Amino acid sequence: MSSHPAAQELDLRDRQRGRSHVTDTPVLEAFYNRLEGHNAGAFWKRANAIEPWEPASRYTATLWKYAEMRRLCLEAIELVRPEEAGRRVVTLLNDSAAGRENTAVVGWLFSGLQAMKPGEITPAHRHTASAHRFIMEGGGAYTVVDGHPITLGKNDYVLTPNGCWHDHGVAADGQVSIWQDGLDIPLMNSLEANFYAVHDAPMQTPAFPPNDLPLSYGGLMRPAGVAAWSKPYSPTMVYRWEQVRDALWNFAKVSPGSPYDGHIMRYSNPLTGGWALQTMGAHMQLLGPGLHTHAHRHTGNVVYNVAQGHGYSIIGGRRFDWQEHDIFCVPAWTWHEHVNLDSGSEAFLFSFNDFPVMEALGVMIEEAYDDNGVHQTIAV
Ligand SMILES: [Fe+2]
Ligand SMILES: [Fe+2]
Repeated sequence: MSSHPAAQELDLRDRQRGRSHVTDTPVLEAFYNRLEGHNAGAFWKRANAIEPWEPASRYTATLWKYAEMRRLCLEAIELVRPEEAGRRVVTLLNDSAAGRENTAVVGWLFSGLQAMKPGEITPAHRHTASAHRFIMEGGGAYTVVDGHPITLGKNDYVLTPNGCWHDHGVAADGQVSIWQDGLDIPLMNSLEANFYAVHDAPMQTPAFPPNDLPLSYGGLMRPAGVAAWSKPYSPTMVYRWEQVRDALWNFAKVSPGSPYDGHIMRYSNPLTGGWALQTMGAHMQLLGPGLHTHAHRHTGNVVYNVAQGHGYSIIGGRRFDWQEHDIFCVPAWTWHEHVNLDSGSEAFLFSFNDFPVMEALGVMIEEAYDDNGVHQTIAV
């Protein structure tokens, strides 16, 4: 592809004015050694590497099959108790040195699968990292966020904004529950801004009626006669699957959607229309029957969880087949396109991302694929 120059072409591009192409000599080598002795270096030795012509992600597209990950989660349930583990989470590590080093699913994002048995709790704590969760299976799961109790159902999306006390559990008469956690732990660590605290008691005492926040802020109407919501994140706190699915069905009735994403909607803060959290965003998208989207790429990293249906995505020229609750990621500036293999019904993809950070920093950049049409060639 013309937009992916071979290494040789990159070298040629680096031999022009404005790029570093110094020929080292014994005198220069001696100078570099002297600089090292002063905690210094020659910028021209590193400039081309640390300022590439375009982003070169250290992460790689990775797929986690739910059938396999689910078995491992159920094994973890038998092997360790949440009281000991703090959080009994099977971490999703990007298939790269950067993923293992940074405990990252992709980019500066963390993700893991949390499994809980009926009657179990995850002890109350809080952290600077923001968290959100996508519920994959179970019954009777709940979370308490800053004293607000929230019940959780399949395909619900729930927030744990940064700094909020939270504990989770599954009711004694519930079912084994598994959800995907997404956090910005690697980002907070890279910013060296990560704090963690444990609550005085294992569980918070609910200070509000069950589901008071989604019942107050989860529809078109805004509550009057209550204290104004002044926090920098969504007051809805949980987004119910049925509402999200209906919103997409309705949107699809009146819009052709995006060539790159089918019909896609963000989980928004209803008071602002912006992202629900400050550092991470999330979407649900509907791929119509048989849809094959156009390829594009952009800055920002995305982690997908298949909410419903089956198909495949081509990411960086590789095909990844997926079905319900498989998880896969698209690293920054990597070409990607999605295919719904069911010609009779739609597929739904949940995803979360670091777009709010990219937007806040003014570096959200997108490009359409236009080599040989709108689809990538799959690498053999
Ligand atoms: Fe947490
Ligand atoms: Fe995309």
